Amino acid sequence: MRGMPLLEVQGLVKNFGGVAAVRGVDFAVAPGQIKAMIGPNGAGKTTIFNVISGVLPPTRGRILVDGEPLLGARPHEVAALGIARTFQLVRLFGEMTVRDNVLVGCHRAGRAGWAACALRTRAMRREERGLEERALQILERLGLSARADTPAATLPYGEQRLVEVGRALGMEPRLLLLDEPGAGLNREEQDRLGALIRRIRDRGTTILLVDHHMDFVMDISDEVLVLSSGEKLAEGRPHAVKTHPAVIAAYLGDEAA
Ligand SMILES: Nc1ncnc2c1ncn2[C@@H]1O[C@H](COP(=O)(O)OP(=O)(O)OP(=O)(O)O)[C@@H](O)[C@H]1O
Ligand SMILES: [Mg+2]
Repeated sequence: MRGMPLLEVQGLVKNFGGVAAVRGVDFAVAPGQIKAMIGPNGAGKTTIFNVISGVLPPTRGRILVDGEPLLGARPHEVAALGIARTFQLVRLFGEMTVRDNVLVGCHRAGRAGWAACALRTRAMRREERGLEERALQILERLGLSARADTPAATLPYGEQRLVEVGRALGMEPRLLLLDEPGAGLNREEQDRLGALIRRIRDRGTTILLVDHHMDFVMDISDEVLVLSSGEKLAEGRPHAVKTHPAVIAAYLGDEAA
């Protein structure tokens, strides 16, 4: 890999009591990449996301962003470095409108400090209008403009997933972690999601995504990392990974289960 990786995971181990969820995983994500992490249930994918995003401390190993180790960084500190994520199970403010859910993400990227907020300075009001504008632009990119005033919980599931992506985009992240964004979507919705993920990358956000569906990730990823039982089975270009014997074995096993 040329140049400094945006994200590096080194020797990552995560144990939960007696469960070794991640058993020494190394990988890197280059700026501008779409990288996918795939693997059967319980492979450790979400655990890796939780460690990267500061939700869980690693048992061993470290995470580096721009070559700097994240030592004990809390989720808001990781977010401040430009790393945003979505969750495997949708977590929206269901009663709030779609627009307000996206605005929550935008606010985190806002520059006005708490003092300015308390005083409601003119700069802050201007910023607020700017954020509102940005939320609407994001909804447009997601094809959700018509839903702006709808309570998030009343949307079909596939659209709720998109609102989550929108909220993460509101933070203007450099790196976006997507945990199974395509889960529960039909083939057509997955295709649209794939195109959206590519557009997000083309606008400068690096992507690390988790998914179960080989076809979906093979389509959109520059590189694929395959995990099984907390270990890396293979990593590389989609085609090379797809034809790797260990990967075929793991996937046939999973499919048969
Ligand atoms: N908070 C936790 N406490 C205890 N065990 C956990 C916890 N989180 C995950 N595990 C265990 O760690 C292992 C890896 O789980 P993880 O959720 O990372 O897998 P995954 O690859 O995301 O799976 P899936 O495809 O089902 O989402 C599993 O055995 C799981 O039961
Ligand atoms: Mg998971």
